Amino acid sequence: PPMATGFGNSDGTVNEKLIRYYERRGEGEIGLIIVEATAVHPSGIGFRGGLGIWDDRFIPGLKELAKRIKKNGAKSSIQLFHAGRQTRSKIIGTQPVAPSPIPWFPMGEIPRELRAEEIEELVERFGDSARRAREAGFDAVEIHGAHGYLICQFLSPSSNKRRDEWGGESYEKRARFAIECIRNARKKTGNDFPILFRISVDEFTPDGLKIDEVEKIVSLLEKEGISAIHVSGGCYSSAWMIIPPMFIENGCYVKYAERIKKGVKIPVIVAGRITSPNFAEDLISKETADMVSMGRALIADPEIIKKFKEGRENEIRFCIGCNYCSDSMANNEIRCSVNPEVGREGEKFFRTSPKRIMIIGGGPAGLSSAVFLKKKGHDVVLYEKEEKLGGNLRFACIPSFKTQMKNVIEHYENEARRLNVKIFTGVEVTPSVIQRENPDILILSTGSIPLIPEIKGIERKNVFLATDVLSERAKTGENVVIIGGGSIGCEVAVFLSERGKSVKIVEMMDKWGRDISPAFKFGFFIPVFNKYDVQIITDRRVIEIKESSVLLENGEEIPADSVVIATGYLSNRKIYEEIKGMKMDVFLIGDSKEVRKMPDAIHDAYEIAKRI
Ligand SMILES: Cc1cc2nc3c(=O)[nH]c(=O)nc-3n(C[C@H](O)[C@H](O)[C@H](O)COP(=O)(O)O)c2cc1C
Ligand code: SF4
Repeated sequence: PPMATGFGNSDGTVNEKLIRYYERRGEGEIGLIIVEATAVHPSGIGFRGGLGIWDDRFIPGLKELAKRIKKNGAKSSIQLFHAGRQTRSKIIGTQPVAPSPIPWFPMGEIPRELRAEEIEELVERFGDSARRAREAGFDAVEIHGAHGYLICQFLSPSSNKRRDEWGGESYEKRARFAIECIRNARKKTGNDFPILFRISVDEFTPDGLKIDEVEKIVSLLEKEGISAIHVSGGCYSSAWMIIPPMFIENGCYVKYAERIKKGVKIPVIVAGRITSPNFAEDLISKETADMVSMGRALIADPEIIKKFKEGRENEIRFCIGCNYCSDSMANNEIRCSVNPEVGREGEKFFRTSPKRIMIIGGGPAGLSSAVFLKKKGHDVVLYEKEEKLGGNLRFACIPSFKTQMKNVIEHYENEARRLNVKIFTGVEVTPSVIQRENPDILILSTGSIPLIPEIKGIERKNVFLATDVLSERAKTGENVVIIGGGSIGCEVAVFLSERGKSVKIVEMMDKWGRDISPAFKFGFFIPVFNKYDVQIITDRRVIEIKESSVLLENGEEIPADSVVIATGYLSNRKIYEEIKGMKMDVFLIGDSKEVRKMPDAIHDAYEIAKRI
């Protein structure tokens, strides 16, 4: 499916980096690649680094893009869109426009209501853009009618309150803008050019689009000659349903696609956390949908389909639904937590002679660096002090909504073993082991250890570490206070409340979940905390842990039979300190360099592999 990358130039044109990203995916035996949302008018740009197609000057660059996508046999399409109210004046340099002057909840700017003649002008712009796409050599276009952007704003009863012929109570009137855009595109591209249409089957907002009405709208669009309907869902107010993260069920739009398919003859494409080729094949063979759209699966592994076809399924690097890609897109451009190559496709690695490399620590940084370095031709040996590989990531996979994260460990461990990296587990490395190995280069990926705050009573028996609770090495009582309201504290809160415990979180900062992205916060943690009545106290420090309560700095005492420490981590540099003075090249990566998140560990590993 189309996925905005943020790789485009500031004037909306393409560049080599963006082309290589798509070209790499075109090499992966994909049937159809739909290029990201591309603005039909400057007022419709949605993101920094977004592409444009509002002028003929975009055609040469898009021509090169289409050519390179198709080079290896993939078909190409491009998505035409206008962001409407779902953009910011900072991005487009003027007030956003919409069918009605209603901002999107909760963060939108108040948009300016479009005048009828402006709407007619935008219809022409959609048609002109489709014509340009055809001239550039794309095999199809997709009109973006989903995700709360302009066409969806017209379709939706919650954002289109117009009383003229472009809106109102009836869905036929609200569908008029979509229909005129399709007609205009058809007129300007001819009868033999496929025009796909993307739709949100549900906006997941109180008054937004719902499937019953969407079914009727799709029938209207079919009559207008669209070539396929691409099923998706959500809008910015329910952003986690546009890009469903790991806490949403796989194939979340399959049942909707099935319903839509019953009412139309045109092909139905379904997207939404279809992460494995087996699942995709199943949907096609059961005729649940006619085509399957796999998005992040292809960010995480551009060769997923190729590997599947060649029987190399065990080499697939699966997407884990962490949404680091879209979070980083919101700030700048996409990056992938498990695939550090994203945005650097075709980048050359520095060539060096083979070296003997010793890696200490088998967490994500150590394991992935072993794989990258071995692929580069080095002789790699990895030591892990625990019996199992994975480091702290093993605990991160335990909460029920995060189990897909174990795919990361499995992938890099499988790859390391397949590539014959020598792996020793259950061995605590001492300086003498290093001397015996005598490597050319030593990589320390020794991870991090829990940070224990200095609080009176911290040594009590009713105080537990977050990792011990998650791994069930420690059993808490029924009334638990968690100290620390970052992601780990919140995950422990979910873990314990799912097991029937009464949970309170105390966070010393004024906001909880600072390291949690909005999709996870609003789409997961807040609903779960509401369900289990998890209370969060912010802006308060715990100054003493007592037998059956914790004392806050303001004198408040909260009853608790157990306390969980989730106050963060410190780099583990024990071995680093012990070997100071030894003559060899030493590199620190992952948490042992600086405590951060899992993607940073894998990106560190990639950087090191590039250099040595
Ligand atoms: C980084 C990113 C950017 C996206 N940009 C677009 C877009 O430009 N147009 C669109 O229709 N959908 C966009 N989407 C949604 C995807 O097309 C897709 O529907 C969604 O990711 C669910 O499919 P998946 O689970 O296979 O990733 C984007 C998704 C991601 C992850
Ligand atoms: S960043 Fe996360 S969600 Fe996005 S493609 Fe990579 S693994 Fe999947």
